[in-house]
Amino acid sequence: MAIHTTALIERMGTEAAFRVLARAKALEAEGRDVIHLEMGEPGLPTPPAVTEACIAALRAGHTGYAPAAGLPALRQAVAAYVNRTRGTDAEASQVVIAPGGKPVIFFTYLAFVEAGDEVIYPDPGFPIFESMVDALGAVRRPWHPGSGTRERPDIDALAALMSDKTRLLVLNSPSNPTGVVYTRAELEAIAALCVEHDVLVLSDEIYARILFDAEHVSIATLPGMAERTVILDGFSKTWCMTGWRLGWAVAPPAYAPLFEKLMTNSNSCAVHFAQHAALAALAALDDEVDAMVATFRERRDALVAGLSSLPGVTCDMPQGAFFLFADIRGTGEEARPLADRLLEEAGVACVEGPAFGAAGEGFIRFSFAVDVPRIEEAVERMRGVLQG
Ligand SMILES: Cc1ncc(COP(=O)(O)O)c(C=O)c1O
Repeated sequence: MAIHTTALIERMGTEAAFRVLARAKALEAEGRDVIHLEMGEPGLPTPPAVTEACIAALRAGHTGYAPAAGLPALRQAVAAYVNRTRGTDAEASQVVIAPGGKPVIFFTYLAFVEAGDEVIYPDPGFPIFESMVDALGAVRRPWHPGSGTRERPDIDALAALMSDKTRLLVLNSPSNPTGVVYTRAELEAIAALCVEHDVLVLSDEIYARILFDAEHVSIATLPGMAERTVILDGFSKTWCMTGWRLGWAVAPPAYAPLFEKLMTNSNSCAVHFAQHAALAALAALDDEVDAMVATFRERRDALVAGLSSLPGVTCDMPQGAFFLFADIRGTGEEARPLADRLLEEAGVACVEGPAFGAAGEGFIRFSFAVDVPRIEEAVERMRGVLQG
């Protein structure tokens, strides 16, 4: 039978971390020991209180459909949480619960971007931002968001990219893969450009709580931005719940019904009993989040110190999220072949920089997903490859 696919699916990209994970699992099935530094997940268990609340919700019979936009109590709790942690002024009606943060990217593009529209997004950045530009036949406008403490986001370059054709600006602070956290002054300058050009912003704040000596500012709180910003956040990273598939959009009042409509058309609702468990995460787990960030800080310091000691490798200090985007240009190797060798020869799974956009050539992303002794072991294994 001839297979007919749409141009949309042909143009759509994918996420390399899942490719690396599949290869790492295949090596493990052959008996190899792999250190997993490829996936964007905390590598820590979900807090027990959340798991217990989920079991209780299952026992209580919360196994049918939930409202498409989410349980009213959860929408209320998310609005309160976002207002507390960002200083926004959102109502529960602006919150739509989705199966993860990723659908919020999908939905935002579907709702607002048409073929020919220009979309500015970070490069290097989360690959789905560019994939969705391509899928919809929109026009790529990649913007370099800076690599961290040494190199800040280039606001002049952003101003040069922005025009009245710009439909959407995607921001991601703290950033995957670079760990950059935008300052208030940087965001004020960006916000002024958005207001001037009447641009909608998707502010991907999924790493907002994972900060090292940096302040998280939501662009939604800056003048003129509340009515033009969709905040993306969720439970995956902050509460170690990547497999639960729960995230949310906080949309301007006029736009929230569009997200509900997209939920009705795609998923019907996010998992009902998981939404009850999510209430437990929001209710009382600030201490757990702080403890997780302290763990990440130790891992970050170990990874920065270890990678910086390797020949030809330098790193900028991540200010947030749990990734390190190491500059490997001094090794004289290209990112993809080197990342492949690190996995095949040393059993260290990591993701080549170009998977995050063209500006990622010469870099490899490592996540802080394993404990410090395993990080140190990974570094020594990599030393063997680079010196061999
Ligand atoms: C920047 C960014 N946004 C969104 C997501 C998606 O999160 P979720 O697992 O909740 O769909 C990720 C996950 O890696 C991410 O790094």
